[in-house]
Amino acid sequence: MLLSIFRRVSYCKYAQLKRQRHLAARKTAANYDLNAFSSASENNVANEEGRRRRLVLGLETSCDDTGAAVVDDSGTILGDALNSQTKTHVEHGGIIPPIARDLHQKHIDSVVQLALERASVSLQELDAIAVTVKPGLALSLKVGLQHARMLVKTSGLPLIPIHHMEAHALTARMMERVEFPFLVLLASGGHCFLTVARDVSDFLLLGTCLDDSPGEAFDKTARQMKLKNLPSCSGLSGGASIELLARDGNPKAFQFPQIMTKLPDCNFSFSGIKTAARKIIDVEEKRLNVSPSAVVPSAADICASFQYAVLHHLARRLQRGFLFCELKGLLPKEKTLVVSGGVASNAYLRAGLQKVCEQNSCRLVCPPPHLCTDNGIMIAWNGMEKLLQGGGHEENPETVDIEATCPLGRDICQEVIDAGIKLPRLKL
Ligand code: KG4
Ligand code: ZN
Repeated sequence: MLLSIFRRVSYCKYAQLKRQRHLAARKTAANYDLNAFSSASENNVANEEGRRRRLVLGLETSCDDTGAAVVDDSGTILGDALNSQTKTHVEHGGIIPPIARDLHQKHIDSVVQLALERASVSLQELDAIAVTVKPGLALSLKVGLQHARMLVKTSGLPLIPIHHMEAHALTARMMERVEFPFLVLLASGGHCFLTVARDVSDFLLLGTCLDDSPGEAFDKTARQMKLKNLPSCSGLSGGASIELLARDGNPKAFQFPQIMTKLPDCNFSFSGIKTAARKIIDVEEKRLNVSPSAVVPSAADICASFQYAVLHHLARRLQRGFLFCELKGLLPKEKTLVVSGGVASNAYLRAGLQKVCEQNSCRLVCPPPHLCTDNGIMIAWNGMEKLLQGGGHEENPETVDIEATCPLGRDICQEVIDAGIKLPRLKL
């Protein structure tokens, strides 16, 4: 009890300090640690322009994370809550949609209540409710939308439907000054996109994924290596497990094929890397006589070599993206690349992409890892950006529906191919 009071007091002091820092810096970082400690009255104080702060509640259920968060119009996170299903799905060997749906249904109400409680706000104090409606698993998306509909019905608040990948792309604007237009590389469990973000709802698609997403390749490779059987990987996603093991591995130990080197596009393909990993694991397991539930002793080297192959492919596409943008004048002189999505929480990939940025005189901005993987914060912030632009909400929430698949922005992938851009040497 004493300990918890002590914690509360020291946290409050800490929160106070953080809040002061936030007020001093306009449009600054997400004060993540502030979450639980703002009071309702504080939330209602005027912001620096003398207006009442606007607040949006965001709901995320597109895949296997049930997330909810309240953010204000300066990008401060007032409260957030997340229930991750990763452990369950790793145990089942992949995401089983009805199980994901049931877990969302079980947790959505408590996750939303917790986010509101942590923010010390009631529904009535909010300005809008944002919810992911596309793309994602249909059964999962439906749970979030149904819950959001119920909340807007009881509160009378506007409903803002959110494109999950657009939200990933714009999360960085919550933390740093990132002006439109900028280049975005999104790598997640379901997608891989290279896009130019020109405005909150205006994207140009330079490249998309032709088969497996990078997250799928990470997850399937981790599963084939049975990494979940290692205590150090317990509770981790396939991607996070591979990143952990790769730290002690040699990225040049195994040779992976280079992907789509002859195609002058910015599209992605990870099935070749995944298949190569499977073959390498099979050969190594036989060579080292590995028992069915054991992890192959050369796992660290396989993980490191796999990561290098993924990085190499991402980097080659990104190189062409930079050259195409230069050719067409799509980016300002002071360029920014945002890298986001679950796979972008990988520190090795970030460091490699940083090198590509340096070679192209570009600033790299990555949200912190917990904001790269799915969360309610990015949905709330995307709702806020739409609200601040004076739009985005649906007049009749009952007509809003989910879309399991949907494009991102205007597709100019063919224009990239037509430009026939040859790539210079890549130094990683
Ligand atoms: O964005 P996200 O949370 O969900 C989707 O929108 O798909 O991405 C989930 C994906 C999973 O495939 C997971 O294995 C991968 O992100 N991931 C990682 C890392 N952490 C999560 N991949 C590589 N390295 C990581 N550290
Ligand atoms: Zn995602």
